[in-house]
Amino acid sequence: MPALREALAHAADLSQRLSQVSVRTYQNPYTAVEWPTSVEPEADWFTSPEHVSLYGTPLWDDLDEGGRMRLAFWEAANFYSLNIHGEKTLMNGLASRLYRKDLLNVTDYLHHFLDEENKHSIYFGGFCTRYARIYPSHQVQLSAERARDVEDFLFFAKTMVFEEIADELNRIQAGDDRLHPLARFINDNHHREETRHLVFGREVVAALWQACAPSWDTETVAAVRAELRDFFLASWREYYNPMVYADAGFAEPWEVAELAWQHPSQRQRRRALSRRCLNYLSNADIMGEDYLDA
Ligand SMILES: [Fe+2]
Ligand SMILES: [Fe+2]
Repeated sequence: MPALREALAHAADLSQRLSQVSVRTYQNPYTAVEWPTSVEPEADWFTSPEHVSLYGTPLWDDLDEGGRMRLAFWEAANFYSLNIHGEKTLMNGLASRLYRKDLLNVTDYLHHFLDEENKHSIYFGGFCTRYARIYPSHQVQLSAERARDVEDFLFFAKTMVFEEIADELNRIQAGDDRLHPLARFINDNHHREETRHLVFGREVVAALWQACAPSWDTETVAAVRAELRDFFLASWREYYNPMVYADAGFAEPWEVAELAWQHPSQRQRRRALSRRCLNYLSNADIMGEDYLDA
């Protein structure tokens, strides 16, 4: 598709610059971190308390400090599991696009992107398998036959949504000195590389939208927007995982998940953490800003 190749010509410089930084900061995930023999889920914070999914609800008020820390520990395992599942989908999508003719402008960076996501999953998986568990994902993978440009746009746009939400949480927790040093390291390390992925993602998503959307009919545009909105909501919904509440000792985990999801302080938190991404999508004329209000 010449339009796409042309649109991504502008991303070629960016791809080169980001690749140079990736080469300079290249990591060995097997030596970059020392894993403690064990951790104490009820004696250390593994998630910033304000970003635990029950924070601000009556259920949080009822927990003692140990109970809050235990919940924060399992929420960290859930956050890391969500990243693993997101990165698996992402690695698949990146691998299948390597050396595609109309993406040659950015292939250098696709290699780094793929390499870095694999390393991230080694850190996230290292934590979950040593000290906790990997929670399954409930995201539905759609396999509809679609035009390639629709598929490309949705792949990069969903990647951006997934990475924007996770990165806000990484950034905040990387700077939280109440956290156990291992949790801070994992968040900080991820945030550093994700910053580049986000810059790349924003460039590519805007370029794809400008190159492809004008040729789509009204139904296609509406369907693309609806799928992105559903993905946004489904991504957030996974942060309210009944299995986490069960592991943290709640007897009615599904009720807990529903209460937390509906609670005004959690809605407010989701909106605040989604703001950067929603502003971007709105400014690029891809989405309205109101679709998280559901
Ligand atoms: Fe990642
Ligand atoms: Fe990433």
